Amino acid sequence: MKQRNDIMWTALKMSENARVNIMDNKCEMVIEVLVSKLTLDEKISMLHGTGLFHNGGVERLGIPELVMSDGPMGVRNDFEDAHWMVIGNSDDYVSYLPSNSALASTWNRKLAYETGTVLGEEARGRGKDVILAPGINIKRSPLCGRNFEYMSEDPYLTGEMAVPLVKGVQNADTAACVKHFALNNQETERLWVEVKVSERALREIYLPAFEKVVKEGQVYSLMGAYNRYNGEHCCESKTLLNHILREEWKFDGMVVSDWGGVHLTREAATSGLDLEMSVTDNFDEYCMAQPLKKAVEDGEIQEALIDEKVKNILRLMYRLHMLGEDVAIRKPGSYNTPEHRQKTLDVARESIVLLKNDKNQLPLCQGKTRKVLVVGDNANRIQSYGGGSAEIKALYEITPLLGIKMLLGGNAKVDYVPGYYADNFDHMNTETNWQADSLENGGGSMGENGGVAPEILEKQNVYREAAVKKAAEGGYDTVIFVGGQNHFQDLEGHDRQDMKLPYAQDKLLEELLDVAPDAIVVMFSGSPVEMPWIKRVHTLIWNWFNGMEGGTALAEILFGKVNPSGRLPETFPITYTDCSAHCIGEFPGGETVNYKEGIFVGYRYYDSRQIPVLFPFGYGLSYTEFVYSNLRVKGNYPDFKVSVDVTNVGSVAGKEIVQIYVGKPDSSVERVVKELRGFAKLDLQPGETKTAEISLDPAAFTYFDEQLRHFVTESGEYKIFAGKSVEEICLAESCEVEVGSEQLRYFL
Ligand code: BGC
Repeated sequence: MKQRNDIMWTALKMSENARVNIMDNKCEMVIEVLVSKLTLDEKISMLHGTGLFHNGGVERLGIPELVMSDGPMGVRNDFEDAHWMVIGNSDDYVSYLPSNSALASTWNRKLAYETGTVLGEEARGRGKDVILAPGINIKRSPLCGRNFEYMSEDPYLTGEMAVPLVKGVQNADTAACVKHFALNNQETERLWVEVKVSERALREIYLPAFEKVVKEGQVYSLMGAYNRYNGEHCCESKTLLNHILREEWKFDGMVVSDWGGVHLTREAATSGLDLEMSVTDNFDEYCMAQPLKKAVEDGEIQEALIDEKVKNILRLMYRLHMLGEDVAIRKPGSYNTPEHRQKTLDVARESIVLLKNDKNQLPLCQGKTRKVLVVGDNANRIQSYGGGSAEIKALYEITPLLGIKMLLGGNAKVDYVPGYYADNFDHMNTETNWQADSLENGGGSMGENGGVAPEILEKQNVYREAAVKKAAEGGYDTVIFVGGQNHFQDLEGHDRQDMKLPYAQDKLLEELLDVAPDAIVVMFSGSPVEMPWIKRVHTLIWNWFNGMEGGTALAEILFGKVNPSGRLPETFPITYTDCSAHCIGEFPGGETVNYKEGIFVGYRYYDSRQIPVLFPFGYGLSYTEFVYSNLRVKGNYPDFKVSVDVTNVGSVAGKEIVQIYVGKPDSSVERVVKELRGFAKLDLQPGETKTAEISLDPAAFTYFDEQLRHFVTESGEYKIFAGKSVEEICLAESCEVEVGSEQLRYFL
């Protein structure tokens, strides 16, 4: 019987492979024929923006324009074709998803896939072909203004979440466009800054997630970064685009520039870039427009190079069923469906991280809650329309205040005071979007400590005093502070100057805690903040920017309808100067930024150098307790399977994230103490035990050898750690790795 099954399986596999080959052949045939029929002008029109968010199509051959939109928290509002003016109709409201930091905090691959399906279906629903998402740059510093758009400081976690996300998007016949390739880890001088980084750090930290989305995720497109590497702009980089992406990783999809990331015609044309986009309306003058045509006509650039680029774009179109008869089978999209909203809620529920619950104040008892005071601008703020290109015109957004009131259903009195005075802007305004000027002044800067204007200071005092007075009146069952940052800090084109809370919130918190020592603190933010009051706060929740149902999810967590299960995808240092990039004075750098910290990024640094942190990577609490036992490491290199039993010993159901770290104690090269190499999220009823089964990828044992210029695996003893965070290791085991010479050389 087994033999028959095997035969059937092999036959099935063979026919599957044959089908894939036929499809591939058909694709290549179709694009060959199309390219042979295109004139030079038509080809050139496909290689650059002919509007702010699309290239040129060729109607006579049935080649449509390729229509793109940002990303990543939903599909962005529509602009006029050649002008950064929002159209402002009612047809571009969309589902607003939790930010990538929030998604990464779920450590839930399925939710990443679901997020992808929402993004992909909504993009299709809005008539877009490419969604400019997800952003997967590594969080090198807590001060980077776009951290909220990125996932983690860890390449493994980033890759594990990005792959299903990309698959979800592309399942909807929409192309994901993973950005920004590569080394775009700051906003300051983002258009020009030259990143110097060792090849080891490049390969071990900054590239693996990109490599994974290319090889495992089969992503259809990538966006080049603004910054420079190896003396070249990343959008024109031979090293990144030609050698690594195209030759090594065999990427045959489309590479689009970041908007305004191309500077030189020759360099762009000879690099692996296919499509130049920018923010200005002089479309014919783009480097890859008339200047490129002239270069071809003058014989400086071979037309064969142009053909390759056109083919890459056509290949993406073919994959999306955009060409010929295939349009009939292209999946239609949808937006603003109840299912999409439900998925944003599912993610929000699992992304919230409970950081402190010292007095077990949470969950609150709904039945006993009669009077609540909510303090803080973020409780009542619509966040979706901020952040830069990630801005969203959300169909609606449940704020924390709304979520709490909706849950309490009128049975409790909920008072609200803003507590601090924060920036505001008119999101309905019709002024030209900031992006029109986004190529000025290096494209990005660092916030300045220009001091606070006296009238603002006055307002802050008035707001603070009113809040403290209200809390001091007493009679509240609970005081909930909802503060943190908004998109005036978590913002494209801008890095923070330090990790301090804006709007004098530290002072407000200290005074609030004087009169309401049990106040529950909830923080919105895409990056950690300093918490000088941390010892005085007993209950602390980290909320990220959590999508249109964020307020619902927060209320459910506060009142115990949902048990928190988010875990930090990045370390929260005490202050930014503890971070490796900063303590060596290499953030944001000047014309050049030197990543001298090498592979010691995030927890790899804090953990290895024993630098105390506020909250470690992987950390988060639950309303229940989990006990780990019976760690087993089975198999031989390269096939190791790790399993660990986890028991819910508390009285409520909950989800636990089992984290597997690998370390090489006496390596012949400098290595970090341990690195995340696997994880599993388990759902456990009270008293239930489940086994987490985690396969270790051969890459789990490798390091990048700079002399040999490839990944290698050392033989010898490795440590396998199972833990609840990088600091809270519950169990450890050893395993022996025997590497034959043929296995020594190992490429990811
Ligand atoms: C951003 C990209 C974005 C593009 C298009 C640029 O400013 O860096 O992430 O996709 O604009 O809006």
